[in-house]
Amino acid sequence: MGCQRTLAAGRTALLLAGLLVALWHRCAASCPERDLEDREEEANIVLTGTVDEIINMDPVHNTYSCKVRVWRYLKGKTNVNREILLDGGNKLMIGGFGNPGICDNQVATGDTRIFFLNPAPEAMGPEHKNELMLNSSLMRITLRNLEDVEHCVEELKYT
Ligand SMILES: *[C@@H]1O[C@H](CO)[C@@H](O)[C@H](O)[C@H]1NC(C)=O
Repeated sequence: MGCQRTLAAGRTALLLAGLLVALWHRCAASCPERDLEDREEEANIVLTGTVDEIINMDPVHNTYSCKVRVWRYLKGKTNVNREILLDGGNKLMIGGFGNPGICDNQVATGDTRIFFLNPAPEAMGPEHKNELMLNSSLMRITLRNLEDVEHCVEELKYT
């Protein structure tokens, strides 16, 4: 009798765990990534860089900015105003982390990613004046991802 009850409890726990996993998958799927081509087209600046420092954490909206060391511009180097470069020219301020409108929007210090960016619109106010804003999800740096992004940039150039 006691044993049967344990079995039933175990089965219920398993069922619940399964349900949780299913739900979790559904939630992940509810933030669908747009096509890389569209994301590339929307972003005027695409670059690879490493997060140097996290600043301006907004405790209410959980958004923040980062100082990022730039490794390479994949697109739009000429769109980067020299005035916004920091620390001798190879660092930038990037805002918009934690933006709920962007699926993959979180970084930690030391993370290296591909960033899809646009200059901060004037409407955002003077505190964002010299920032670039995250325009779509962060992308991990793999050979495949770099090639895919470069391919999109090249294609856009010739159409
Ligand atoms: C991304 O940039 C486009 C303009 O190219 C803009 O319409 C869109 O709102 C931006 N997305 C985000 C999340 O800022």
